Amino acid sequence: MRALGLFLLCLVALPAAGKTCIDCHAGAAERSWALSKHGVIARIEAGRERRRAPDCAGCHALEAKAPAPNHYGRTLSRARAREAAMESCRACHSPRYTTEQNAAAARGLAIGEMKRREAEALLVAAREESSGAELARIEMLFATLRDETLRDLRLGLGHQSPDYQWWLGQAALDGGLLRIKGALGEARRARAAEAAAVK
Ligand code: HEC
Ligand code: HEC
Ligand code: HEC
Repeated sequence: MRALGLFLLCLVALPAAGKTCIDCHAGAAERSWALSKHGVIARIEAGRERRRAPDCAGCHALEAKAPAPNHYGRTLSRARAREAAMESCRACHSPRYTTEQNAAAARGLAIGEMKRREAEALLVAAREESSGAELARIEMLFATLRDETLRDLRLGLGHQSPDYQWWLGQAALDGGLLRIKGALGEARRARAAEAAAVK
């Protein structure tokens, strides 16, 4: 009985004890880092005393200090933690390099947002003219683009992962846009064919 009580206490009081960043952020966050030059070097040098490249806490020092899974609360705001991560590069790189990298990331994200808006305009058109399974498919394609592909791009830019910036980021956004355009075009052709058959 006491053992069970202790076990339950651990579950309640120590949700994050002993958990590493990667335990909770497996998937795109971890992989985009692992595929970056930082991740590759950090893993090669993992056993060494002097390590040159940052692991998660090397750039996300504020999240590392704030108790997970609620990093952001009264003491830490997400905006401040984000800024700190963007500036963490200065510990190792020059201010010039850091500014350049952050400006490039902002440009990359602005391009990604443009693609999202383009996709959203297609969705708005689809909502006006389509319904049922046709529309559901376009809604689903758009949600994937907005929630997953755009996140992969953000991670690629934040983590300097070429794979996530390009193949899983910008190129995947272009692919998502094409799929939405294709689905909308298909729906239009099907309606035109139906209308012709009625005549
Ligand atoms: C016990 C699970 C857990 C652990 C351990 C954990 N996190 Fe989190 N992390 C979360 C959850 C849940 C969220 C989203 C909720 C929130 O905003 O706090 C989050 C959010 C984040 C975000 C913001 C994501 C976004 O969408 O803006 C970052 C960055 C982050 N964590 C980094 C880290 C780092 C670095 C570590 C290790 C030092 C870490 N986390 C450890 C659970 C965890
Ligand atoms: C080279 C520094 C660096 C390292 C190392 C790093 N991050 Fe990040 N991370 C960033 C930056 C910069 C961002 C982008 C900040 C922003 O705009 O949200 C970011 C963003 C994130 C996000 C939020 C993505 C989103 O949805 O907006 C998560 C989650 C995250 N990192 C987790 C991790 C984890 C887990 C690790 C270790 C496996 C890690 N990071 C290693 C710098 C780093
Ligand atoms: C703990 C030190 C450290 C931190 C913090 C750090 N870096 Fe690095 N970074 C390195 C090292 C070491 C390399 C590998 C240099 C080499 O040998 O080519 C590297 C490589 C890079 C590369 C790859 C360059 C290439 O040759 O392809 C980029 C881009 C980069 N860093 C950007 C950043 C950005 C942006 C941040 C902050 C968000 C950051 N770094 C934070 C140490 C760091």
